[in-house]
Amino acid sequence: MTTINKLRWGVLGTANIGRAAVNPAIQASTNGELVAVASRDLERARAFAAAAGIPKAYGSYEALLADPQVDAVYVPLPNKLHLEWTVRAARQKKHVLCEKPLAMTAAECVAMQRAADTNGVLLMEAFMYRFHPRTEDVVARVRAGAVGEVRVVRSAFTFRLTKLDNIRLDAALGGGSLMDVGCYCVNASRTLLGSEPTVAQAWATWGPTGVDTELTGTLRFPGGAVAHFDCALTLERREYCEVAGTTGSFAAEAAFLPGKGPAELVERRPFPDGRKEERHLTAGVDQYQRMVEHFARAALEGAPLRYPALEAARNMAAIEALYRSARNGGAPEPVAAIG
Ligand SMILES: NC(=O)c1ccc[n+]([C@@H]2O[C@H](COP(=O)([O-])OP(=O)(O)OC[C@H]3O[C@@H](n4cnc5c(N)ncnc54)[C@H](OP(=O)(O)O)[C@@H]3O)[C@@H](O)[C@H]2O)c1
Repeated sequence: MTTINKLRWGVLGTANIGRAAVNPAIQASTNGELVAVASRDLERARAFAAAAGIPKAYGSYEALLADPQVDAVYVPLPNKLHLEWTVRAARQKKHVLCEKPLAMTAAECVAMQRAADTNGVLLMEAFMYRFHPRTEDVVARVRAGAVGEVRVVRSAFTFRLTKLDNIRLDAALGGGSLMDVGCYCVNASRTLLGSEPTVAQAWATWGPTGVDTELTGTLRFPGGAVAHFDCALTLERREYCEVAGTTGSFAAEAAFLPGKGPAELVERRPFPDGRKEERHLTAGVDQYQRMVEHFARAALEGAPLRYPALEAARNMAAIEALYRSARNGGAPEPVAAIG
């Protein structure tokens, strides 16, 4: 009997994020191998496979899902297609690592989790920043009371989108700044506050294609703690997160995409020697590789998956409430409780 000790991955689509970050992370991982890529266009799949050293190329996503030598799929398709292809992959008994945001709504996330459970496979949303040791360290220290009672999380994720044919500007494919980058701010806020928001408020600028090109949002948590953030497809790159409590705060630039180099964290509180601030450096890693190795350990060894799809459903419930508010001129909207 052969022991399978590497997860055999396939990727659906020739997406930029696959090419630039996740596919190479799977190829570099200690417990995975990238065995196949599928595209809607066979020639594109072949060219992509040849350039990336992927053994097999398929001309349809169905064909890849029918390959018994694929154990898991990575889904970096446009947001609107996450539900369909995750469910179809689960029915073919493939584990699924699906890009963020996991789906268009919380209800879709719940349906995807159900499909995974019914078919005995794993499903996780690919929020890679959670696997960076700096994020893990901040979350653990915040939980342990390092900043006292957390009252505010402040974050931003903006960049200037210059290509007008980008999926992020296509409303029918699930585009928009909140779906694309604001979802990180919502996720980090919920994670750092360790609870779910109950009320959401947002203001948006809607672009000519019908997506929110800029959005500013506020989430109110039980006990009155607040998270506020902004996201945009129109502003110069800004990316940071700050968590403030009664006795101190942590702040990070490049909070979601620190790259592979050392990542800095600023800790602010009155230190015993009189200093008000300390800067820590976390050694550089590939957070994408840490994510896929975690997922493969769960699939191969039954290690607990850190983030079930229900976690993604809670993120989407907050995003849905923010959108309702933004469409309603900023009126406060309740966030649906999930599960
Ligand atoms: N975690 C991260 O760091 C990160 C970063 C960027 C993006 N993302 C997420 O990853 C996903 C993909 O983003 P991306 O920027 O990489 O997208 P992209 O480059 O536009 O790629 C999307 C792929 O989906 C396939 N596709 C299927 N139907 C399509 C349609 N109707 N229109 C366009 N493409 C279609 C295409 O592959 P074929 O034509 O080959 O079938 C295309 O290459 C999104 O969910 C996004 O939120 C995550």
